[in-house]
Amino acid sequence: MADTKVYQASTTAPVNIAVVKYWGKRDPKLNLPTNSSLSVTLSQSDLRTHTTAACSSTFGPEDTLLLNSSPQDVSGARTQACFRELRTLRSALEASNASLPKLASLPLRIVSENNFPTAAGLASSAAGFAALVRAIANLYELPSSPTELSRIARQGSGSACRSLFGGYVAWEMGANEDGSDSVAVEVAPASHWPTMRALILVVSAEKKGVSSTSGMQITVATSELSKHRFAVVVPKHMEAMKKAIQEKDFETFGKVTMVESNSFHATCLDTFPPIFYMNDVSKAAIRAVEDINTRAGKIIAAYTFDAGPNAVIYYEEENTDAVAGAVKGVLGELDGWEGKEVKVQDTKAIDA
Ligand code: ADP
Ligand code: DP6
Ligand code: CO
Repeated sequence: MADTKVYQASTTAPVNIAVVKYWGKRDPKLNLPTNSSLSVTLSQSDLRTHTTAACSSTFGPEDTLLLNSSPQDVSGARTQACFRELRTLRSALEASNASLPKLASLPLRIVSENNFPTAAGLASSAAGFAALVRAIANLYELPSSPTELSRIARQGSGSACRSLFGGYVAWEMGANEDGSDSVAVEVAPASHWPTMRALILVVSAEKKGVSSTSGMQITVATSELSKHRFAVVVPKHMEAMKKAIQEKDFETFGKVTMVESNSFHATCLDTFPPIFYMNDVSKAAIRAVEDINTRAGKIIAAYTFDAGPNAVIYYEEENTDAVAGAVKGVLGELDGWEGKEVKVQDTKAIDA
């Protein structure tokens, strides 16, 4: 009798907010970056994607993806690359063990939900593709390591490779033409620096005007400044950031985080036509952080902005009142924003 069973698996994945930013592709097809990057993975009890992957001979004939209840186009090369890589791994398993059900050839039905704004500069593509890849890997019962899954998730969205790990995570750009060494690695676990906190300021949940994917390609094509960033600025920041994390040196961590964010947004402005991701509330958040640090006489808070107006402010737990209190005090007078204090996600608890 034909197998009409529905096979399914679910997972969650966290977002990660980069402190050394990825903004440029050297190979858009394989999604290989112009530079290495480094991020902090944020607790998925606050921000997360939840994804269920199912397959059955009763589905189809097309693969489908429902994101926050609306059907998505899965025919794009990036989603297709993820499906293809995962199916190839499942086929190899099936070839080596004849008793396994033949899942690789069945249509996939993916249902995903983000509990935070999608496409608003809060790394939805990171959590989204990390969850998509791991949900299918779980469905296919693949023995793949997080490193192997990060190589696949990178092809869905670059920043997604870093969401396969908790703690402090580098995406090493790699040197191989096929992208086999362009993967994420854990620089330090969350437990290494347990006092680290992030304040997420949602000032706008609106979809960004220019997607990360197209924005960074226009930057690479038109910005002279970005060449200097890739060759000189980022390598220096990667080294300083890794050392700051190893030494739990918040002043350096904070300084590099802020200079990095500014450098990334400067290349956006140097793009032609220019791309503006920050708005007036973003600028008020920068000023609030500057005030906090001036008052403290040292860097105790660090802002960073991805491709959107929403701020993430890193600080240590002992400074919660000084930082979260002051930011809320300054922005409290402005309408339409929301703040959330979150911890760093532990790797072991991600797929538990
Ligand atoms: P963000 O700053 O939120 O990462 P991007 O422009 O990088 O914004 O990517 C947004 C796109 O990522 C969405 O339009 C969608 O195509 C994809 N995406 C977001 N969440 C998910 C998800 N849970 N599953 C699959 N794809 C997702
Ligand atoms: C500013 O990973 O969303 O958040 O690979 O095209 O999907 P694609 O881009 P994406 O870019 C993220 C850009 C960033 C910086 C970062 O996360 O490193
Ligand atoms: Co993204």
